[in-house]
Amino acid sequence: MTEDLLDLAVDLATRAGALVLAGRDAAGAGRTGLNPAAKSTPTDVVTEVDRAAERFLVGELRRLRPADAILGEEGGEHADGYGSGVRWLVDPIDGTVNFLYALPQYAVSVAAEVDGTVVAGAVHNPATGETYRAGAGGGAWLTAPGRPERRLAVTGCADLPQALVATGFGYAAAARARQAQVAARLIPRVRDIRRLGAASLDLCYLAAGRIDAYYEQGLHAWDYAAGGLIAAEAGAVRTGLRGRPAGDDLYCATGPALADAFFGLLEDTGAADL
Ligand code: IPD
Repeated sequence: MTEDLLDLAVDLATRAGALVLAGRDAAGAGRTGLNPAAKSTPTDVVTEVDRAAERFLVGELRRLRPADAILGEEGGEHADGYGSGVRWLVDPIDGTVNFLYALPQYAVSVAAEVDGTVVAGAVHNPATGETYRAGAGGGAWLTAPGRPERRLAVTGCADLPQALVATGFGYAAAARARQAQVAARLIPRVRDIRRLGAASLDLCYLAAGRIDAYYEQGLHAWDYAAGGLIAAEAGAVRTGLRGRPAGDDLYCATGPALADAFFGLLEDTGAADL
């Protein structure tokens, strides 16, 4: 069953990605062609392309798997299915601000849960053609145009001063100010910080060894469901600190060699207190 869910996740993320890229190209180089509208705050935007890509994902899931439930970033919960115990978590464009500015760091994220546990996930970046995928117990994999398929593994970085750490910031100004304080305490202790702009890709980059660690406060399940499984299948350790699982409040992940030091540092910076 996991294989079927994973194949469908990859197929849907790739086809939705083609729609997203076509929408970006049709809008030209600027931002106004995308008609961005404010969501939770003036800086949190949604475009007609986000909505169209989500309509496509939900429509295909309804057609192909009518007994499943769906949770989507732009459409909320479609729980009328759920006779099957399967729920899909879809983000039609993770990294919408990058998409708006034509920065090639955005992704379609599709994950499938069975009885509340994520078992399959795909993250596709239409701007680069990279597709990350994982099924529970089957490892994490990357395909990219013109490159051989690659099994992913987190880095063996064991030393905080050598660690490249990615994070992100929420859209609400007050939360962002607190998150900036945590980042300011962290920067002197690590190699550097990256704010790349798409949480799903941050987690895939952790899986691919492109960064050593990642943390963020205030995510939503559709941001991390697929990327979190991909990171875990590449060997990442995940936590929400203080005995809590990684989740909406706080999502921390790194390779096992750095885990104690990194999670300890995050505790010291007050990351768990927000
Ligand atoms: C956002 C991105 C960003 C993260 C924000 C998310 P969206 O998702 O993943 O990297 O820092 O917390 O909301 O809004 O572009 O789908």
